[in-house]
Amino acid sequence: MEEYELEHTGYARQEAVLVRGGNRLCGELTVQGAKNSTLPLLAAALLCEGETVLHNCPALSDVHTAVTILRRLGCRCTHTGDTLTVCADGMTRCDIPHSLMREMRSSVIFLGAILARCGQASLSSPGGCELGPRPIDLHLSGLRMLGAEIDDTGGTLRCQAGKLTGREIVLGFPSVGATENLMLAACGAEGVTVLSNAAREPEIEDLQGFLNTCGAEITGAGTSTVVIRGGRPLHGGTYTILPDRIAAATYLCGAASAGGEVFLRDAREEHLSAVTAVLREAGCDVTGGSAGIVCRRTGRLTAPRPIRTAPYPGFPTDAQAILMAALLRCRGAAVFEENLFSSRYRHVDELARMGADIRVSGRTAVVLGVERLHGAAVRCTDLRGGAALCAAALAAEGETSISDITHIDRGYQSIEDDLAALGADIRRVEETASP
Ligand code: UD1
Repeated sequence: MEEYELEHTGYARQEAVLVRGGNRLCGELTVQGAKNSTLPLLAAALLCEGETVLHNCPALSDVHTAVTILRRLGCRCTHTGDTLTVCADGMTRCDIPHSLMREMRSSVIFLGAILARCGQASLSSPGGCELGPRPIDLHLSGLRMLGAEIDDTGGTLRCQAGKLTGREIVLGFPSVGATENLMLAACGAEGVTVLSNAAREPEIEDLQGFLNTCGAEITGAGTSTVVIRGGRPLHGGTYTILPDRIAAATYLCGAASAGGEVFLRDAREEHLSAVTAVLREAGCDVTGGSAGIVCRRTGRLTAPRPIRTAPYPGFPTDAQAILMAALLRCRGAAVFEENLFSSRYRHVDELARMGADIRVSGRTAVVLGVERLHGAAVRCTDLRGGAALCAAALAAEGETSISDITHIDRGYQSIEDDLAALGADIRRVEETASP
């Protein structure tokens, strides 16, 4: 069994992706495990005695960061193929340094688990990120309601909880991270916690599935009310991470952008219906079945009705940039409204370099479909914005060079291998100069 690399060696080099547009995407791809399930499941492993075995674990830099955090806390982590094994029995610390928190804002998900396990935790405040401010007030107020004392002055969160006690918590907004953090903390609380207005994302159901496999008693994930009977000792377990719906959405939109026909094995349409509905409306043939999803695009796409991002089951904010890329050459004007994050149109200027015509005003972006896109030197601004540049480049004439792809490596196992397997002319190169 191979030890998990502590250093992010494969990701530290400056690399770019070169795409020569014009090839249609054809063929089949198996969708990777979900990044946004893996991270909370790794935090949940802290609560379990004995070994946790996670199958279908994607090899992503964000997962590397989470593993680095676990190892620093004293856990043993080993990785064989797509199986990650964690043993938290030797946990010795309950703090996460700023350098690791900065690496991945969502590492705040470790707070609830560390608190439940150790009765105390010390983390630097995650602060803002490339998508704008990233408040954690809902995480903190919920943890306080369970009995944690939290001092969040001076950029560090110092948390103490002699004893956590379950109770009813009504979230002011169905935050994914707050729901997960509170589920984890509530596992270590005495009594019953009822989370109302909880997020309903499939990744919350995955967290419930994993924790129940390990001996927890949680019901309701996937609905707005999650009930956790806390205080039960949790043991290790074996669990298979659900397929990544945003990676699946990326390749569906890639096919919508480039044309062709792709079959995404394991993609679950029930988790993607907001995205597939828009793709169908725009003119793609999309068929979901038990084995996966097929997406075919032949003619020119037509602008669908306005796309408004919303918590699940609404249109996912994580698919906004990617779908926008697919609609750059549509007939008519495609209207987007981004309602989750304040700075989530940073990909727009980069897409404009490729000939896209997009007007942004506040939370609204209007894509005026153009006849053609051309290759350009562009830069990833964030994870999904970077994936959007790849999807757009597939349909651009000539070569596009996409720099700062460390953003993409946070969430895609190997976007260039996946797209190349579907027939794209795409490769990763050492970066020579920034655009
Ligand atoms: C998760 C996903 C991310 C996705 C997002 C929304 C992971 C690791 N990341 O992020 O990919 O884009 O859901 O689907 O699963 N908010 C507050 N106070 C809080 C918490 C959140 O105001 O305490 C606000 C945020 O600023 C944002 C909205 O709530 O406007 C949604 O955030 P949230 O659902 O918490 O997203 P994350 O869990 O951070």
